[in-house]
Amino acid sequence: MFVCLFVCLFATNQPINQPTNKNRAKNVIMFLGDGMGLPTVAATRVYRQQGINPAEKKNYLFWESFPNLGLARTYNVDHSTPDSAGTATAYLSGIKANLGTIGVTEYVQFKKCSNMTGNRVESIVHKSIKEGKSTGIVTTTRITHASPAGCYASTPCRDWEDRVPDDATDCTDIAQQLILDDRNKDIKVILGGGLKYFLPDSYSNSTPPKVNGTRKDGKNLIQSWESYQTNQSRSYKLVFNKQALATVDAKNTDYLLGLFNADHMSFDADRSTTDEPSLADMTSKAIEILKKNDKGYFLFVEGCGKIDHAHHNTNAYRALIDTLAFEKAIESAYNNTSPDDTLILVTADHSHVFSFGGYGLFEESVLGYASSVEPSLDGMPYLQMAYSNGPGYKVRRNLTGNNKDAMDKDFVQETAVWLAYETHGGEDVPVYASGPWSHLFRSTEEQNYVAHVMMYASCVGDYTTKEHCVATANNGAGQTHSFWAVSVIILSNFFYFLEKF
Ligand SMILES: *[C@@H]1O[C@H](CO)[C@@H](O)[C@H](O)[C@H]1NC(C)=O
Ligand SMILES: *[C@@H]1O[C@H](CO)[C@@H](O)[C@H](O)[C@H]1NC(C)=O
Ligand SMILES: *[C@@H]1O[C@H](CO)[C@@H](O)[C@H](O)[C@H]1NC(C)=O
Ligand SMILES: *[C@@H]1O[C@H](CO)[C@@H](O)[C@H](O)[C@H]1NC(C)=O
Ligand SMILES: *[C@@H]1O[C@H](CO)[C@@H](O)[C@H](O)[C@H]1NC(C)=O
Ligand SMILES: [Zn+2]
Repeated sequence: MFVCLFVCLFATNQPINQPTNKNRAKNVIMFLGDGMGLPTVAATRVYRQQGINPAEKKNYLFWESFPNLGLARTYNVDHSTPDSAGTATAYLSGIKANLGTIGVTEYVQFKKCSNMTGNRVESIVHKSIKEGKSTGIVTTTRITHASPAGCYASTPCRDWEDRVPDDATDCTDIAQQLILDDRNKDIKVILGGGLKYFLPDSYSNSTPPKVNGTRKDGKNLIQSWESYQTNQSRSYKLVFNKQALATVDAKNTDYLLGLFNADHMSFDADRSTTDEPSLADMTSKAIEILKKNDKGYFLFVEGCGKIDHAHHNTNAYRALIDTLAFEKAIESAYNNTSPDDTLILVTADHSHVFSFGGYGLFEESVLGYASSVEPSLDGMPYLQMAYSNGPGYKVRRNLTGNNKDAMDKDFVQETAVWLAYETHGGEDVPVYASGPWSHLFRSTEEQNYVAHVMMYASCVGDYTTKEHCVATANNGAGQTHSFWAVSVIILSNFFYFLEKF
């Protein structure tokens, strides 16, 4: 049997000898870089390679060494450029949906609660729970934001995070669904921001975690979560800052709820002044807790919902820094799992109208000017990074002399069209894959294919009886696997034989 250690990733990355791994994926970890299209990946890689810290000067991002790669077409049913809600439904529940809707079929229109009956769908989180697996959700956005909500909610409107309109009688808000819906009560790890949506508007706390509740229905969902855990005699922890998260003893904690900001968590570039954990801190704690289950787990990590927010502000610097924080989380997850039994995907929900080009000199920062290879016709210097729309519109600024401004972390890149908020891009996004069945990513597929591969590999949902799912206790070894499969067949024939006589 071939034991795959850390170096094996790089060995198997050589296509000539690359074996296919058809084990059951005991664990699946999906890393979702919100808005992380290929220009973001390439610009971050170059930025890192030019890095201030020489130790960081690798010419690849960690996940770029994964052995398999495909492309996902991201459009929603009703829009050719998608949003994070419709795409979350695709890659988590396996069906394409309308823009702005979460966990519902295309028969539910945005903001219309009239056709919910029969049109709610289950995500891979729900399907994994049904197979006895542990599940976890980690993000740096509000935990009720579109991408993480795709794991557990069904709603015609992504904005109904803490309330629904009066006439939406068949709908409940996203925060309430997370805490009170039966299908979500066994989610073991919930880490992110968005505390205010779980507390009544009468609630105010001026000491950390500083928060004013926003709920108009008077519900305190944090209390509800806690009393449920107590009632079920579960070992649980409720945490609100980095220190408390660090001291959670994973061995003695089965359920963990951590909300580290009233709203979205900070950009990684600004995190040092807060007491928020990093994405890597949250991811490793989640894995420690989830891996205690012999049946395995599904973990969703939205790295950098904040990549998306920085791009919407056409602030490339923060998008790149958040992408690097995303990379750390992925590396630590890879280090703490085995590609024998853990499928890891790194992908994006959609891209942005972000571009990176202009023949910059390699020794000059990617944040700076394009080179003189192609001089501008108006005689003014221009930058390597720009957006086709967004708030950075100023009729061509004359960025003079040094590129000091462009190096500032608050610098807003130039855009061709003036919008308050830059838009997503419509092109396909990459799906980087490592572990069991990762070779199923090899071409251009619809984005909902991603959910089906994860379910197929981990034997949940419609795929529980596939051949690789027969053995129950997968120890990650293909041969052991077939040994058990053969034993099961022999034994069942034997009992059949006995019964006959
Ligand atoms: C409501 O959903 C059903 C499927 O459950 C579909 O057949 C029907 O066309 C939908 N109605 C509307 C008005 O979209
Ligand atoms: C909560 O509301 C009070 C009163 O409006 C305000 O002074 C305080 O800054 C708010 N706190 C937070 C964390 O938003
Ligand atoms: C505790 O759980 C039991 C069932 O497990 C339920 O009947 C009871 O209402 C619960 N109590 C509270 C306070 O939630
Ligand atoms: C992952 O493991 C490698 C090799 O042991 C180590 O160099 C690296 O620092 C680890 N990375 C993380 C993020 O834990
Ligand atoms: C841009 O600024 C430089 C330096 O101040 C100046 O020489 C040049 O004429 C300016 N160009 C335009 C088009 O304003
Ligand atoms: Zn966005």
